[in-house]
Amino acid sequence: MSHFQAPPELTAEDFAARRRALAERVGEEGVVILPANREQQRNRDVHFPFRQDSDFLWLTGFPEPDAIAVFAPGRSEGELALFVRDRDPEREIWEGRRFGTDGACAHFGADEAHCLDDFEERLPKLLAGRRNVHMQLGDRPELDAEVTACVQRMREMSRRGPPAPEAFLGLDTSLHELRLHKSEAELAHMRYAARVSALAHAAAMRAAVPGVFEWQLAAEIHAVFGRHDMEPGYGSIVAGGANACVLHYVSNRDRIDDGQLVLIDAGGEYRGYTADITRTFPVSGSFSAEQASVHDIVYAAQQEAIAKVRAGEPVAAMHEAATRVLVQGMVDLGWLSGEIDGLIEQGAQRRFFPHGTGHWLGLDVHDVGRYRVDGESRAFAPGMVTTVEPGLYVQPDDDGVDARWRGIGVRIEDNVLVTEDEPEVLTDDLPGSRSAIEALMAAVRE
Ligand code: GLY
Ligand code: MN
Ligand code: MN
Repeated sequence: MSHFQAPPELTAEDFAARRRALAERVGEEGVVILPANREQQRNRDVHFPFRQDSDFLWLTGFPEPDAIAVFAPGRSEGELALFVRDRDPEREIWEGRRFGTDGACAHFGADEAHCLDDFEERLPKLLAGRRNVHMQLGDRPELDAEVTACVQRMREMSRRGPPAPEAFLGLDTSLHELRLHKSEAELAHMRYAARVSALAHAAAMRAAVPGVFEWQLAAEIHAVFGRHDMEPGYGSIVAGGANACVLHYVSNRDRIDDGQLVLIDAGGEYRGYTADITRTFPVSGSFSAEQASVHDIVYAAQQEAIAKVRAGEPVAAMHEAATRVLVQGMVDLGWLSGEIDGLIEQGAQRRFFPHGTGHWLGLDVHDVGRYRVDGESRAFAPGMVTTVEPGLYVQPDDDGVDARWRGIGVRIEDNVLVTEDEPEVLTDDLPGSRSAIEALMAAVRE
């Protein structure tokens, strides 16, 4: 049933290489503290499906909730300490096996592992001699409180004990900068997520028929993810007609009638790595004249923007290129009047194009990594993956444009890898242009 060969699992050596790279960034003066995610209650006695925190997953691969990783580069007693849930035969009968401290060392490269209850007592030893604590303050207030209390105690004791850390730093320039540059093993995961997600979108296009409900198309997509050991990387958007103008529409409850477009923004996640694809297509298989003109403009904007995803180009160039094409289109369609540069300067396009053109993609759909460095748009570099997703949306109550345009929302989104050379569109198994979408849909309607 599976169409593609899944990539090899990440190896212990992949994780060791990540830790070496992080050690290089934070140095022996630094210590990194990362919490795993916690279970979130859905309703009585039921949790939401567990998803590991992406930073914690990137560094350790450890899949269980509640754990804490402390990484102290160069520490002679061992660099990586994992604090994990204790084995508990009684609970394991209900919830499944836990790795416990032995498993954390045997399978996840921990140099030492302890139960969570020992965190407070052992933390001073792990912070000893470290000047900088790298952690995301604010994400987990109870962990912040434990760590800052520990630092304060170390300060009080510093005449007799080791000096206390002096600074707390976020992860932007250390771990997140590493996550932004994907390894070959990560790219294999992302290519796989992209290909399966493309297949899922094609399945939805084939299943579309006037009168279908949004949730039925969502089910087509999720079935393809499920058959490939994947799950949605974010809440899938299946938006018929004017629902496409709600940017984060996720209720997916409405019927899609003849003559309407469907905007689907859905991406599958494989071992944590997600795709993020949007296509907009007519539920009947053929675009009306108005829908066609809007789709053609968005597609042209996307192609111009993809051409900017090249090593050395500033990231902002992609948005500037897309915006210019879209604003020209807004003028050509009579939605705006004026001179292009002036309109862009005023921000007039935001009425019809209220979002950015792309974002980093990886373990998080809106992945980590800075967009600006030292106040300037940073340059693309090989190994970065971005989405490219221009759109045009005419709100149904926008009486400043002719009625025939109202309620049309179109976005086209692909995932693009920066290489040494041409941009690599990871999602190019799925047609994006109007004619190719019509051809794909016609093939099942003959
Ligand atoms: N799917 C969320 C986004 O496109 O940013
Ligand atoms: Mn998307
Ligand atoms: Mn996106």
